[in-house]
Amino acid sequence: MKVLIVGANGQLGQAICFYAPSKIGGENLYITLVNRSQLDLCSPEKCNELVLFHRPDFLINTAAYTNVELAEKEIEKATLVNTIAPKVFSKALKITGGKLIHFSTDYVFDGLKNQPYKPNDEKNPLNIYGKTKSEGEDQIIKIFGSLNQYFIIRTSWLIGPFGENFLIKMLNLLHKKDRIKVISDQFSAPTSTTTLANACWSLIATIRGSCKQSQICHFSDLGIASWYDIANCISEYAIDLKLLSEPAFIEPIKTYEYPSNAMRPRFSALDLSDNKNYFQSTVYWRHSIRNILKCLSEKQVIYGK
Ligand SMILES: NC(=O)c1ccc[n+]([C@@H]2O[C@H](COP(=O)([O-])OP(=O)(O)OC[C@H]3O[C@@H](n4cnc5c(N)ncnc54)[C@H](OP(=O)(O)O)[C@@H]3O)[C@@H](O)[C@H]2O)c1
Repeated sequence: MKVLIVGANGQLGQAICFYAPSKIGGENLYITLVNRSQLDLCSPEKCNELVLFHRPDFLINTAAYTNVELAEKEIEKATLVNTIAPKVFSKALKITGGKLIHFSTDYVFDGLKNQPYKPNDEKNPLNIYGKTKSEGEDQIIKIFGSLNQYFIIRTSWLIGPFGENFLIKMLNLLHKKDRIKVISDQFSAPTSTTTLANACWSLIATIRGSCKQSQICHFSDLGIASWYDIANCISEYAIDLKLLSEPAFIEPIKTYEYPSNAMRPRFSALDLSDNKNYFQSTVYWRHSIRNILKCLSEKQVIYGK
């Protein structure tokens, strides 16, 4: 089975590569990793050529323009990467017959529902990142129509031991500063790139033979938290695992107190109840944080004043 992983240097891309099995259902996996130096997603022609050249059974698209703040200014770039590239991948895969696994975000929602969002709930993104990701989903669905060739996995607040993310940023700040301010009135579920990467491979194992119905699914770790809750959990476990000696004091602040170009949903937790046929979230978010910190402590990355 040929699998093309686009965005291989991103935090999720690295985790998906790291947890790749050698075989699925007795079949050998032949994985091709694609990063920015091999493909600029701002070039629709190159995106098309890539698929027609490799003709993968699965294209896993983890690449995205993920800088929520900068996207407000670089609208054209964010649109090319988050909307046009998935559209071109879908058109090319429709020709070759391969399947697309595409990742999207809780930021397609406006956060006003006050309950976890179901996959078919109405979308209303508040910022350019969410808007371009939402339009990317719409393009995929429009191009494949009733063909069973795509899965869109929406996820939230990714954290992990690889790449740039809130957990790594917090560890550095807790180490360098005496006091930090963290937003306490935005809520969702953190998701470990490890649990998501394993869910992705389990989805591929399930749908590889017979074509299951294309759909949007939601995946996150279990539970709901604010950024402030997560920062406290990181601090607590980092001390416990001796990654930090004297962590900074964490002060809760409101969204309006934090300068930002982009609006963000207040409550964007995803409802996971429709996933059961493909994968199940089983890890509580605090356990994921502990697992990631353990992984960092085993690598002997010590943060201390
Ligand atoms: N991060 C989150 O909290 C979060 C939450 C919900 C959903 N998601 C979704 O989950 C998926 C994975 O996110 P992530 O956190 O792993 O993102 P990430 O770490 O920012 O990785 C994104 C990757 O896309 C690549 N990329 C961006 N622009 C490109 C371009 N023009 N040409 C080629 N490659 C380009 C980046 O390349 P470089 O490495 O060269 O920069 C990077 O490797 C994305 O679809 C994202 O929208 C993320």
